[in-house]
Amino acid sequence: MAAEKPTLENIISLADFEAQAESCMSAMAFAYVAGGAADELTMRANCEDWKRILLAPRILVDVSEISLRTEVLGQQLEMPIMLAPAAFHRLCCPDGEMATVAGANQAGGGLILSSFSTVAVEEVTASAKHPVWFQLYFQKDKPLTQEMVRRAEAAGCKALCITVDTPVLGARHRESRTQFALPADFKLPNLKLGPVSHRPVRSAVYSELLNPALSWKDIEWLCSMAKVPVLLKGVMNPQDALLAVKTGVSGIIVSNHGARNLDTLPSTAEALPRVAEKVNGKLAILVDGGIRRGTDVLKALALGAKAVLIGRPYLYALAFAGAAGVARMLELLSTELIMAMALTGRTAIDQIDRSVLWDTASHV
Ligand SMILES: Cc1cc2nc3c(=O)[nH]c(=O)nc-3n(C[C@H](O)[C@H](O)[C@H](O)COP(=O)(O)O)c2cc1C
Repeated sequence: MAAEKPTLENIISLADFEAQAESCMSAMAFAYVAGGAADELTMRANCEDWKRILLAPRILVDVSEISLRTEVLGQQLEMPIMLAPAAFHRLCCPDGEMATVAGANQAGGGLILSSFSTVAVEEVTASAKHPVWFQLYFQKDKPLTQEMVRRAEAAGCKALCITVDTPVLGARHRESRTQFALPADFKLPNLKLGPVSHRPVRSAVYSELLNPALSWKDIEWLCSMAKVPVLLKGVMNPQDALLAVKTGVSGIIVSNHGARNLDTLPSTAEALPRVAEKVNGKLAILVDGGIRRGTDVLKALALGAKAVLIGRPYLYALAFAGAAGVARMLELLSTELIMAMALTGRTAIDQIDRSVLWDTASHV
């Protein structure tokens, strides 16, 4: 007898979505979402290193009211959790980013829309109830880049996240093995380009959609013309974090791109405290990579992040159950975060600091 397909109610943790997604996505689409670079060592470390950090419990604190509300770059968020930018949501669900934003609306999550979304930025922001930020792949064509920025601002995006960790793509073996290719009818409406390929076209390394010449000068230019706060996404090296402070961006996202580009990098759990130490409060810090539990979110906030981004789990949720899946993913994670806060004696996001962690707790 065939096993019954579980319903959303049977999904009780983020990990459950992955197994379900594998059985309802094409092998090619699943490989695209699930894969990491090369031997996927960093991809595994991203998940494992959050788990290694221990929490310090607190008792006899009144935790009968807990709020997840927080402010990042002057914007009110219902929870310190946003959906990370990810290309091509229509690979997961026919309604693509419209389903994602409907799920985010239902659960109260913010969304960072990829440059490579399969729905135009204007359509997504028109239906969004919570902040939408725009992820920018700075194009080789500067006027096109400027046009993308102006469009995103006019559409109501509240910040720009410039992805700076992808001058080239990494060695993505799962994609190669499934001969991943975008469906012929896919368009990238934010770039006004017709059918495209994100795969390398020149000497097996460079992609026509990425800019391998991007440098700090371009970021200065962008900061001088942007009307909304600019964040750099993909800062891992504390030295680069210092340069980001000097360049005048408003924030950084500690990220190794879900370990999809360079393998054998440290995990983001490892990099975050070092980056936070160098930044010393001068910029807003966010983090992503391997965050799968409410306890992971709590640890990220304790180590200096203002909010976290979630990548693969919401794409699996989207593939499994569309908007309702995305909402369930956010609800599960935020519920776990509330539980973790209660059991460590915190009732508000601004009460979360290093003393939540066992090895730095002042009483240990
Ligand atoms: C399928 C997929 C597509 C992605 N596309 C983009 C993108 O277009 N722009 C970008 O800045 N990051 C992109 N990322 C990276 C995510 O924004 C994020 O950094 C990463 O997924 C976080 O790690 P996690 O998947 O372990 O949560 C993508 C990630 C995945 C899994």
